[in-house]
Amino acid sequence: MASDSPFSERSGLRSRTIEIGEESFPYYFGEDCIAEISDAIADLAPDRLIFVTDDHLLELYRPEMQRLAAGTQSITLTHPAGESMKTLSCLSDHLETALRAGVTRRSVVVSFGGGVPGNLAGLLANLLFRGVRLVHVPTTTIAAMDSVLSLKQAINSGVGKNHIGTFYAPTAVYTDVGLFTTLPERELRSGLCEMAKNCLAIRPSTLDQLRAVIAAGDLAAPNSLLWLLDASIAAKSAVTRFDTYERRTGLVLEYGHTVGHAIEICDHRARGGAGIAHGAAIALGMLVAAHISYARGWLSDDEVSVHYEIVTGLGLPPCLPASVDLADVLAVVADDNKKGYLEPRADAVPFVLLRALGRPETTGDLPLVYVSIPEIRQALTFITKRSTAAVGV
Ligand SMILES: NC(=O)c1ccc[n+]([C@@H]2O[C@H](COP(=O)([O-])OP(=O)(O)OC[C@H]3O[C@@H](n4cnc5c(N)ncnc54)[C@H](O)[C@@H]3O)[C@@H](O)[C@H]2O)c1
Repeated sequence: MASDSPFSERSGLRSRTIEIGEESFPYYFGEDCIAEISDAIADLAPDRLIFVTDDHLLELYRPEMQRLAAGTQSITLTHPAGESMKTLSCLSDHLETALRAGVTRRSVVVSFGGGVPGNLAGLLANLLFRGVRLVHVPTTTIAAMDSVLSLKQAINSGVGKNHIGTFYAPTAVYTDVGLFTTLPERELRSGLCEMAKNCLAIRPSTLDQLRAVIAAGDLAAPNSLLWLLDASIAAKSAVTRFDTYERRTGLVLEYGHTVGHAIEICDHRARGGAGIAHGAAIALGMLVAAHISYARGWLSDDEVSVHYEIVTGLGLPPCLPASVDLADVLAVVADDNKKGYLEPRADAVPFVLLRALGRPETTGDLPLVYVSIPEIRQALTFITKRSTAAVGV
């Protein structure tokens, strides 16, 4: 992140410049700023706007999308909401529709939605004429605080998640935190868990302010969201600045993900869409990682307690959903996608563990260490046995 100027020339909008490797793009954010975003998009002088959204958002925000387009000719590509739409066939339908509608190299793709429309739009923009301009207007905390701060664009295959993808930078990102007011609690918290992960694993200096925001009791207040957004941008940019592909320093962003992902997968197998939210699963994964670090003598009792304090402060029970079986979680963990970063080992998986808050342990220059399945099992029993809001080790 190069620019620390808190306000841009565009009145009412804050801005940060995001730098990821060779790529650089502005991130503007504010409250109730659809008019300013519309002006900024018009300044790109597009011949057409191609909105990518989902049916649920189209129903909620059609007037806002019309205001964003202002006088520019636009088409809207939409699909049913949810992860199941992140497919090659949905992407292919969108590509065909865009081409038949007369999209040109001067057109701009605008993602209006969460991570699912965002990833589909990223791939669409990258593939049309080998690359047209892309603007993100994220409407979930996960998208605003996490996915748009990455160049990764991916869809799912029949075999697994995010298997088909590429890296592509947007021209700009515009977030109006006013759009988060309609987010269900579960989705709101999901992004905040990723943000909390960044505080614990990358920028513990921001923990006091995170505590203050949690203590104020209204995570959805615009001022809280604007601070959380700014802090997320700073933390994530700190580790992706020189790691375009998130394969070195950026791997610390995987904190909590090895076990968290496995819990998410197992719960979704058991309960479908009603399964645990992504961020909540990552929060549990962070608790497991903290217990492992504690058992190794790395994190102190207090540092583990901070993990519990933040996770419960975000309103999440620090225990495994009843629908999830510990043995199933371990089986998925053994197949984790960080395989390949370190020499494969039959008895252990690569894992992000903290030596101290904000200080991941490394192997070579990677923030990864081997963790054995029995270590993970032991740590997992802590969060399965724990009842609800208990804090401490
Ligand atoms: N590096 C990356 O590219 C990256 C990082 C993190 C997550 N992701 C991807 O993002 C996806 C998850 O993101 P998500 O949680 O935003 O998913 P999503 O886009 O499916 O949105 C979740 C739900 O919230 C609804 N919604 C969105 N905005 C709303 C609003 N303002 N008000 C009311 N409802 C709203 C949507 O209709 C949907 O039902 C995953 O596919 C994940 O792989 C990608």
